[in-house]
Amino acid sequence: MSDRKSTLGFASWLLLFIAISPLILASAVSDGAAAKKRFMREEVRKMFYHAYDNYMIHAFPHDELKPLTKSFTDSLSELGNLKLEHLPQNYNGSALTLIESLSSLVVLGNITEFERAVLWLSENLTFNVDARINLFECNIRVLGGLVSAHILATDSTHRLSQSSYKNQLLVLAEDLGRRFLPAFDTPSGLPYAWINLKYGVMENETTETSTSGCGSLILEMGALSRLTGDSRFEAAALRALRKLWSMRSPLNLLGTTLDVVTGEWMEYSSGIGAGVDSFYEYLMKAYILFGRDEYWDMFQSSYIAVQKYFRHGPWYHEADMRTGKATYWQLTSLQAFWPGLQVLLGDVAAANSSHREFFHVWEKFGVIPERYLLDRDMLHPTEKYYPLRPELAESTLYLYQATKDPWYLEVGESIVNSLNRYTKVEGGFASIKDVTSMKLEDHQHSFFLAEMCKYLYLLFDDSFLVGQNYVFTTEGHLLPVKRAWHERLPEAYIPSNWTSVMSAKYQAKHASAMSLQVCPSATSRTGVAPHAVESACHVLDLLSNHRCMADEECGIDSTTCRQRTCSMAGYCGLWLFVA
Ligand SMILES: *[C@@H]1O[C@H](CO)[C@@H](O)[C@H](O)[C@H]1NC(C)=O
Ligand SMILES: *[C@@H]1O[C@H](CO)[C@@H](O)[C@H](O)[C@H]1NC(C)=O
Ligand SMILES: *[C@@H]1O[C@H](CO)[C@@H](O)[C@H](O)[C@H]1NC(C)=O
Ligand SMILES: *[C@@H]1O[C@H](CO)[C@@H](O)[C@H](O)[C@H]1NC(C)=O
Ligand SMILES: *[C@@H]1O[C@H](CO)[C@@H](O)[C@H](O)[C@H]1NC(C)=O
Ligand SMILES: *[C@@H]1O[C@H](CO)[C@@H](O)[C@H](O)[C@H]1NC(C)=O
Repeated sequence: MSDRKSTLGFASWLLLFIAISPLILASAVSDGAAAKKRFMREEVRKMFYHAYDNYMIHAFPHDELKPLTKSFTDSLSELGNLKLEHLPQNYNGSALTLIESLSSLVVLGNITEFERAVLWLSENLTFNVDARINLFECNIRVLGGLVSAHILATDSTHRLSQSSYKNQLLVLAEDLGRRFLPAFDTPSGLPYAWINLKYGVMENETTETSTSGCGSLILEMGALSRLTGDSRFEAAALRALRKLWSMRSPLNLLGTTLDVVTGEWMEYSSGIGAGVDSFYEYLMKAYILFGRDEYWDMFQSSYIAVQKYFRHGPWYHEADMRTGKATYWQLTSLQAFWPGLQVLLGDVAAANSSHREFFHVWEKFGVIPERYLLDRDMLHPTEKYYPLRPELAESTLYLYQATKDPWYLEVGESIVNSLNRYTKVEGGFASIKDVTSMKLEDHQHSFFLAEMCKYLYLLFDDSFLVGQNYVFTTEGHLLPVKRAWHERLPEAYIPSNWTSVMSAKYQAKHASAMSLQVCPSATSRTGVAPHAVESACHVLDLLSNHRCMADEECGIDSTTCRQRTCSMAGYCGLWLFVA
């Protein structure tokens, strides 16, 4: 008995060991992976503080740090101002980099520093300055930074001592928002690109602006209206967006630059990069944040047009909005945000393939050059710089969140290593002037703190995102997705107040994108069940509001031609940061 018992005992131990040894191995591996993620998170934290502390020591309260000379630049009025015109004589900065750091400080859990910053800003920041600023840049960096930080500050989960916080940031944001409004006072409702914060639109101001400049205001100005109850901000941004959309070509394409007085296009060629990028991004994100089908409808039509006219395999070139004919075969570093947007949409496979190509370019040069000529497979002769742009890190975060494929962590690690190797100097992080020589430039852009450090940190530690859905503005500031914001429709929304921009053709919501031939159709397979179709694709979801109970109610992914899945939030392929 005892022998048998012991034999049995041994056998069961053996069995148990065999059964659990993969678990032991797996948990050792995952412990190693977890330790690696913690290590990388700390590396990113060090990067943030190296950039932040140097800014605070050498540049604050000026706008940005010059890391090589350990000095500062009052750059708010230089942003987007390529010819450096109308620079103010008597302007000492608006603590731009501090404002841009606020939401990152909360993500990194530094509440004491955040509170110190809020206190300083509330006592010392004024927008009553004689400075001509770019509306788009000031909106995404300053208004977005303030609005996002205000929401994070008032969210009880972030352990802020509520007593010390009394809406100071919202007061500043509202003041800034009011200073934006005169820019929208044009015959078309499209805003001037430039406005003087103290005096409004200047005499003889240029009437030229970009698609991004008119179409990427709705998140920040919409949030400001929801927070203050003053509907003018959201109404102005929405009116501009609708006007812009009404200017699309019959191919559903937009140009890059336009005139705000005549409402006519100036540059007919466009793509998904500079001058246009955040227009697409904001349509999608406005739909997520505010839940209006109008945004989705605009987004979907323009997304299909992008896939149809700009896409070439994993790459995106530019095309003429009137003809759809390819114009420039160039990769620009800003395009690297697109895969992140595709992840939000649910087209993960398409995102993955483009992201891989961008990362190959990163690996080839060590960082990503501003412009690369795809047709000649060479660097653009003048745009060889890398100004610390975060778009590849951004897409990497989205793809990792969607797939949990550890390969994206390796991409993140490679980005961190390159930044430390090539751009870190004693006084901060410097831009690269030329990726062939890695010669540096004396500028640490504020988005390095707002975006790069935040995206990389969240890649290695996403605990901040657990339990709350957020959208990131194009500057990386977080806005929570709140049910309340989906329901309150200000009176300003009533479309009859404005010229209707909806054409009859466009109302045909249920046209199958298969007939629109987003993807190159391989062979005619008419009549075959959708899941068997290999290359024609992009079947719309069953319900026009993209709600679903099961995968079967969702359409077909545009690149893989696979069924889009029903997310936990009950949306087709609409991937959000879900806990
Ligand atoms: C900016 O700083 C200079 C030098 O300290 C000072 O003379 C000037 O008044 C300041 N300008 C403003 C608008 O505060
Ligand atoms: C917060 O930031 C300040 C300034 O860089 C730093 O001195 C402090 O140690 C940070 N606190 C935490 C908890 O990281
Ligand atoms: C506002 O700025 C002044 C001058 O730099 C400074 O003395 C004061 O402490 C600042 N306020 C806060 C709350 O930091
Ligand atoms: C604006 O343009 C008009 C006509 O060209 C000119 O006379 C005037 O001086 C300009 N004003 C400014 C402030 O440049
Ligand atoms: C991404 O692409 C790689 C290489 O083609 C592939 O191995 C991987 O499965 C893809 N991942 C997803 C989520 O599509
Ligand atoms: C709608 O139009 C009316 C009449 O033009 C105007 O008085 C009102 O302010 C408009 N409402 C909004 C929210 O723009």
